[in-house]
Amino acid sequence: MITIKDKLITINTDNTTYQMKVSDYGHLLHLYYGVKTAGDMSYTLCYYDRGYAPVPNDLEGDRTYSMDVLPQEYSCFGNSDFRTVPLIVKDENGASGIDLRFESAEVRDGKYSIDKLPSAYANEGDDAKTLIVTLKDVADLVRVKLYYGVLPHVDVITRYACVENISDHTISINKISSLQLDLRWGKYEVLHLRGRYGTERMKERKRLVHGNTVFGSRRGISSHQENPFMMLVDESTSETAGEAYGFSLLYSGNFTNEIEIDPSEQTRLVTGLSDELFEKHLRAGETFDSPEAVMSYTDQGMEQLSYNFHRFVRKNICKGPYKESRRPVLINNWEATYFDFTGDKLVAIAKKAKELGVELFVLDDGWFGKRDNDWCALGDWYVNEEKLGGPLKRVADEIRAMGMKFGLWIEPEMVSEDSDFYRAHPDYAFAIPGRKPVRGRSQLVLDYSRKEVVDAVFDQIARVIDATGIDYLKIDMNRSIHEAYSAEAKDQNRGVILHEYVLGMYDFLDRLNKRYPDMFIEGCCGGGGRFDMGMLSFVPQIWCSDNTDANERLWIQHGTSFGYPMSTIGAHVSAVPNHQTGRITPIRTRGAVAMCGGFGYELDLNLLSDEDREEVKKQIEVYKKDWKIIQQGRYFRLSDPTEEPFAVAWEYAAEDKSSAILTIVYIKSVCNGPVPFIHLRGLDPDADYYLEETDQHISGAALMNAGLPVPPFAKREHDSIMIHLVRQ
Ligand code: DGJ
Repeated sequence: MITIKDKLITINTDNTTYQMKVSDYGHLLHLYYGVKTAGDMSYTLCYYDRGYAPVPNDLEGDRTYSMDVLPQEYSCFGNSDFRTVPLIVKDENGASGIDLRFESAEVRDGKYSIDKLPSAYANEGDDAKTLIVTLKDVADLVRVKLYYGVLPHVDVITRYACVENISDHTISINKISSLQLDLRWGKYEVLHLRGRYGTERMKERKRLVHGNTVFGSRRGISSHQENPFMMLVDESTSETAGEAYGFSLLYSGNFTNEIEIDPSEQTRLVTGLSDELFEKHLRAGETFDSPEAVMSYTDQGMEQLSYNFHRFVRKNICKGPYKESRRPVLINNWEATYFDFTGDKLVAIAKKAKELGVELFVLDDGWFGKRDNDWCALGDWYVNEEKLGGPLKRVADEIRAMGMKFGLWIEPEMVSEDSDFYRAHPDYAFAIPGRKPVRGRSQLVLDYSRKEVVDAVFDQIARVIDATGIDYLKIDMNRSIHEAYSAEAKDQNRGVILHEYVLGMYDFLDRLNKRYPDMFIEGCCGGGGRFDMGMLSFVPQIWCSDNTDANERLWIQHGTSFGYPMSTIGAHVSAVPNHQTGRITPIRTRGAVAMCGGFGYELDLNLLSDEDREEVKKQIEVYKKDWKIIQQGRYFRLSDPTEEPFAVAWEYAAEDKSSAILTIVYIKSVCNGPVPFIHLRGLDPDADYYLEETDQHISGAALMNAGLPVPPFAKREHDSIMIHLVRQ
């Protein structure tokens, strides 16, 4: 799988090959990443006379060897490469310039892990391997270890870089990325997931132009605005055909993705920690690790690339008891009550939910301190017994006595100025001395770069969990981070403090997982502001968006599916008119859209009509029967809501093709309209399928090649149908 021969290093996965070579001068050059290909590809390196291009000193003016044109594996500022580089290091005098040459390479069994940072893990049967390539600066300033984790059966290669200061003085790292990929041929488009609060992960595909295209976050969180996942695709690539490279970062803070089309028409991609206001001082002998990045390739279109990521996230990122097993159908009280509830009101909501088949009640924001609005009490993680009419345990026990599980919401990284916690520890919040800190949702951010702050919050929350007994925890985070001035840090460097903040937050999650290994934990960040593989390494599911409108969710869930499996998406049926958009959609459609990985409700079911309640009951039965195919089956984007004027469709198919579920939503009703055809995928072409809801027998081949005309079921806009297909 990994071979090192005559300074040629080759990684093979089941369907891809990745190759690099040490040049005669010791630089590590990148040769190839693509379809599985045998042989030495160093013949592809072209040494043209590059005129006046500067070259490293020891090349004695060899103008055919330009670092500014040659494809490199992990370049650096200082070796005469003027393109976007992944690494910038300064020496004790502030001089920036290093030149990395090959030192050694070794292969180990299994997959590496990274201290304090999340990383993918291997399961039995994954046949994972680790490659470590060591480079050293010619003037002995740093040694850089490039780690490659190879998961051959999902066609994924993971990467990170570790920089060691081998000099005897303090140096600084001003930029460190996790991954660089140089592609010498091909014209690519980028597909990235942009957005905003309530409209996260909108797919955007655009042509690259010369110069740099840069995406990222400077908000302290991976953000609603830009997701750390992206694809590079050939101009002709579609869902089902063509080249596609995918990249993702296991990181939940500031990041930068850069793609440069250089003057020689080559493409360079660099992804990793944001270097904006980042300067990490490294004392002699110290090391610094970049976060892990993940890449995958296919020539079978975007659907296959997403499938590679889906399998990988499900099997090699997510952990814990809810990785594979069915997640309980939940009801969350947020949109039902907001802050306005009593213990009895919660119990009444839970009771009706239980009658209809719901299995878990989640008490959202407002149960602690004096929290009756969003101006106060964050940080005071003790139960508001006055509001609940007694201890939290009493409410939880009453709900448990009905046969339901009980869950709770927390927002551990935040503090309200109007809280006992803030009054006792004002220095625990980020603030620049002499300036009033920016408020976001009326709150401040706790300095999680300090262990004592993490300890203080963790202890309070653990006390409530232990006293109440909790099956589920929703971990929220409702603002981006503006100032990052830590009362304790010796070196006030915004970039580094924000990185340490992320490490502190991961430490908090790690402690929760270790102390409560059976608990179902769901991530959240003002909806989907921290939907990334870093978070998914600690929680199997993330609340996808605060936008619960079934129509808007079509776009959000479609975009999310490019980089993340449906099993990671939390989605709820909420009330109409929808609280975010005012739109009215049928309960059937709200159920069909929410029925992705993590299914739940977020409304007072007592307020529904009897007819709608019957529909809810049916939905829950369907989910309990179909959860496996929804959570673990193969997901197909059958139409693109950004391009489809009438009906949007998607499909879950069992891996063994024995069954599938097709969902179609009419997004626009028209008079005397055309008949949209849906072409299914992932079926057995040689078998017949029975379509339960339409009572038809149709062959797999016909459903995939001729397609299924959308049945004339729509009586009103946003109507929908779920069709179960069973192989005969
Ligand atoms: C933002 C979350 O996304 C919501 O679901 C809800 O938990 C609120 N915060 C509570 O403040």
